[in-house]
Amino acid sequence: MLRRRSGLKRADEIPETENAEESITTRSRTVLDRVVARSHQKTDEEGKEMTDDKIPAESANLSTLSDLCTPWCIHVVATLRIADHIAAGTTEIKTLARSAACDADFLQRVLRHLVSKGVFAEPAPGQFALNKAAEEVQRFGLNLDDIGGRIAHAWGTLLTAVRTGKPAYHEQFGLPFWEDLQAHPDIAASFDALMGPAGHGIPDPEVLLTGGWEEVKMVVDVGGGTGALLAEILRAHPQIQGTLVDFPGTVARAEVLLQAAGVRERVRTVGQSFFDPLPAGADLYLLKSILNDWPDQEAQLILRRCAEAARPDGRIVILGGVVADDSVPSLLTPEMVLLGGKERSLTAFQELAHQAGLTILTSGRLPSGRFAVECRPR
Ligand SMILES: C[S@@+](CC[C@H](N)C(=O)[O-])C[C@H]1O[C@@H](n2cnc3c(N)ncnc32)[C@H](O)[C@@H]1O
Repeated sequence: MLRRRSGLKRADEIPETENAEESITTRSRTVLDRVVARSHQKTDEEGKEMTDDKIPAESANLSTLSDLCTPWCIHVVATLRIADHIAAGTTEIKTLARSAACDADFLQRVLRHLVSKGVFAEPAPGQFALNKAAEEVQRFGLNLDDIGGRIAHAWGTLLTAVRTGKPAYHEQFGLPFWEDLQAHPDIAASFDALMGPAGHGIPDPEVLLTGGWEEVKMVVDVGGGTGALLAEILRAHPQIQGTLVDFPGTVARAEVLLQAAGVRERVRTVGQSFFDPLPAGADLYLLKSILNDWPDQEAQLILRRCAEAARPDGRIVILGGVVADDSVPSLLTPEMVLLGGKERSLTAFQELAHQAGLTILTSGRLPSGRFAVECRPR
């Protein structure tokens, strides 16, 4: 996350223009834009449903809506780490360009465009400063050299996706999304970091609607990334042991976080696919930000694997990807473009869960505001 450092020059408050706000939130709704929009929060609140797909009362301005200039400028300054250079005290355009190894004239044009949109300030000609939006640019997962580039360029496959009803990520990158990440460990690591505390914030360990932590001895976090949620749960409940299931590279990257959280001895890491049989006999299986990555058939198989593995009185908790029936599921998400995934209403999820051998115990909002669904094997 971008933090203010000594020597940082900050412009007087500049009100964020509507355009600036829109360009940031709309570019970052995810696997990833949710990551971002919600990383404004101190804690991970990505489960809060967003209602970004607003229906404007008046007809929109097409030229503003279809202009790609601002989103690309934001990605470029994020990639060049311009905000970090300014925060470190480099504010003059030529030295800024030198620090970022880029062309001063082009960079100035990009920055001036962004200033006009309310991102960065130019307090004196050729001198640039941070404002609130600029301070946040770096933590939005927009770096074109890592996962931000994958997500940005994936939108270029939307036409094929719409024509075929299937993700077309492989057209751009040669492999489907997860395979591409496995083939490029640096990109995968940047994805994991974006999903972890640096991108999402610290997850709230309070994930049970029905309480009953005293009955829980073993938790399996299915597709648990680098273990941020599992670590918080184990820190809050010293009697619990955990199992982290994810790709081998991701669970290997979890070591640092688990050690730092002081829970490493209580966690077993399992590098496997969650489409294969899962570690059996646990009291609680967590699926956080997983189901929305997948079409129905795959989502159902993941749920079935949880149903098969859980103890008869074990629980499966779904966090993210399911919204209350009176909320509107996000229509167009990065998950759709990257993976063919989607958010589901509770009713749609209920059907999927039933076919997977699960019954819904309860659903509702957790103290964090996240919508959760608790299930049990039938
Ligand atoms: C959107 S991330 C969510 C990570 C974590 N649950 C969180 O909320 O921060 C999806 C996770 O699923 C994992 N994943 C995707 N396909 C998988 C598979 N076939 N088997 C195991 N893990 C997988 C990814 O590596 C990633 O960590």
